[in-house]
Amino acid sequence: MVVVKVTDRDGRQHTIHARPSTSLMEVLRDADMGIEAICGGQCACATCHCLLEAGWFEKVGRPSADELDLAASLDAFDEARSRLTCQIEVSEALDGLEVTIAPQE
Ligand code: FES
Repeated sequence: MVVVKVTDRDGRQHTIHARPSTSLMEVLRDADMGIEAICGGQCACATCHCLLEAGWFEKVGRPSADELDLAASLDAFDEARSRLTCQIEVSEALDGLEVTIAPQE
């Protein structure tokens, strides 16, 4: 299992154990972190938006052009931290990942 450290919208911190090869969105949604994921992971709704903590953006990998277009339309978009979590696959390389759930829009 992969450890993911999550800060929710109330500033509370959670440690979640995630199964590799699932999307980060599914992990956060199933843990009731307030992720709506209205489009079900199709990169079409942006309700799975999170902000990655320092150092993780590069390790996770760059967003695709489609993801970036969608995320950039959000008020809380941060070029150096924003990711749509349905586009991130959990893997052992992400053990210890730290994310903050973005504000609801
Ligand atoms: S779940 Fe809709 S964009 Fe990620």
